[in-house]
Amino acid sequence: MDYIKWDGSLELGIKDIDEQHKGLIETINLFESVSNAADRYKICLETIMRLKKYFDEHFMTEESYMIEYDYPDFVSHKKEHSEFIKNVLDFEMACVEFYAPYTPILEFLREWLTKHVKDTDIKMGKYLNEKMKQTK
Ligand SMILES: [Fe+2]
Repeated sequence: MDYIKWDGSLELGIKDIDEQHKGLIETINLFESVSNAADRYKICLETIMRLKKYFDEHFMTEESYMIEYDYPDFVSHKKEHSEFIKNVLDFEMACVEFYAPYTPILEFLREWLTKHVKDTDIKMGKYLNEKMKQTK
């Protein structure tokens, strides 16, 4: 069974952002499913690489929308993105041979979904949907 299930509370109604969030959930579920693997150290590093690729693409998508539609909370939203990036880079540094902070990474990702996606992104999504309707 999946550790995290996609549901309506995560949906912004903006197709490309929703698809990217689904991709993040897939990464988290894959990561959780290997919790008992002997080579967790390698899996942690692989996940961090995926997250780095993810935030490059995904944050750029969200930030482009926010700029395009003149989102008033852009600065504070972007700050949360910067903190996510910093945390992922810190986790990367903490991974040393045959050791990785597996549980803190998993908890961090779960918290990101419940705090950032379900709250900060949903608020942004509501604003963007309104603006998109007006400019149609
Ligand atoms: Fe965001």
